[in-house]
Amino acid sequence: MTSERKATLIIEGREPVEFPILTPVHGNDCIDIRTLGAKTGLFTYDSGFLSTASCSSTITFIDGDKGELLYRGYPIEQLAEKCEFLDVAYLLRNGELPDAEQKKTFVNIIKTHTMIHEQMARFYQGFRRDAHPMAVMVGVVGALSAFYHEAEDFSDATQRSINFNRIVAKLPTIVAMAYKYSMGEPFMYPRNDLPYTANFMHMMFGTPCEKYEPNPVLVHALDTIFTLHADHEQNASTSTVRLAGSSGANPYACISAGIGCLWGPAHGGANEACLKMLEEIGDVSRVPEYIKRAKDKNDPFKLMGFGHRVYKNFDPRAKLMRKICSNVLQELGLENDRLFKLALELERIALEDEYFVEKKLYPNVDFYSGIVQKAMGIPTSMFTCIFALARTVGWMAQWEEMITDSEQKIGRPRQLYVGAPRRDVPPIDQR
Ligand code: SDX
Repeated sequence: MTSERKATLIIEGREPVEFPILTPVHGNDCIDIRTLGAKTGLFTYDSGFLSTASCSSTITFIDGDKGELLYRGYPIEQLAEKCEFLDVAYLLRNGELPDAEQKKTFVNIIKTHTMIHEQMARFYQGFRRDAHPMAVMVGVVGALSAFYHEAEDFSDATQRSINFNRIVAKLPTIVAMAYKYSMGEPFMYPRNDLPYTANFMHMMFGTPCEKYEPNPVLVHALDTIFTLHADHEQNASTSTVRLAGSSGANPYACISAGIGCLWGPAHGGANEACLKMLEEIGDVSRVPEYIKRAKDKNDPFKLMGFGHRVYKNFDPRAKLMRKICSNVLQELGLENDRLFKLALELERIALEDEYFVEKKLYPNVDFYSGIVQKAMGIPTSMFTCIFALARTVGWMAQWEEMITDSEQKIGRPRQLYVGAPRRDVPPIDQR
């Protein structure tokens, strides 16, 4: 990764200082400035990390200009077409896709760990029924750290496998229970005779009153949606999990922190916000009004589901999501779904508008995901929980990569202090 090339910092009145340039497999070269402070007493300033690589990673790569997303080197389009979500979960953690035997073993481990401790079910009773399910997820997933103290023994590879398998297996159960609790319906126990995503749909939409057989077209669509959301380099929530984990905290508490970060409307909460935006726009005739608002610097309104820090081309997941959306709507006889048609028109108009073209604002993964989830019967408030369910796989893989990195240190950024200069405390009568 280190090349012979150097970057030289020349500051007036100072000796030039050299820093190695690190050359990645894909992506931007990086100047290794870890010794900048010690060598010069200077810091870099990069609020929002626009030009900062926080770590080295082997898991996911995004080419924002090409609109390309690779999980362990495999293009997302091929994984979405040829693999199931559990194949991708195995890949993200282990670095290779499972062979038939490995997959059989992994699927069986996940299948037999989907129940949560019976006492955990009582946590849900502490929430109001109208609590946002992401608030419930933060609480219940964080509570896993109260049940599994041994998870902190992550120096042991077997324990790390147990941690990974346990949370991948239990997240669908926890998410479905949050939904059932909000509906006032009884929790549905997992069924070991159903594959992962079919089981999740059973726990979401099944009832004790009758047998529920999920629609295989919808199961495949949701399984692919999980794959599209599984990982995405060092986004805000993954960076949260890494930073929390760098202190040695319980991994489940770190995942809970990631869920909290994902909830924000600028991040994973955008799918919920996008659907609300489409419902507020209501009709194609009002699209120009909202495009105008999105361009108005004095209006805080942003086109939800549009734009991305890294993608300056189409988010490849958005293209796949649009296709999934069309397939699901067709399967459900909703080809003329009002919101889908509105979204297609909004996308068309925005992509022809010079503001969006100039700022390279394209639909992102959240633009269509709300429409397809709503059509599948998933309530808006659950959209980001679905995102969190899938992203937990990436968060755990990234956490494990961080915790096993020999160069790993506790994350401790510095700052540019612009507050009050040093001063003495005045007597109260002089304040
Ligand atoms: C996700 O990081 C990841 O990988 C995240 C994610 C993942 O898988 O983990 O991909 C998931 O979070 C997708 C993004 C979902 N969020 C939204 O759809 C919310 C709407 N989008 C914006 O809030 C925004 O585009 C961000 C937050 C996604 C990206 O913001 P940046 O990179 O900080 O860019 P910016 O806000 O500085 O925007 C650059 C310019 C600004 O104009 P200027 O100040 O240069 O004049 O573009 C404008 C912005 O005002 N802009 C938008 C816009 N997004 C950016 N204008 C109108 N509508 C938008 N959606």
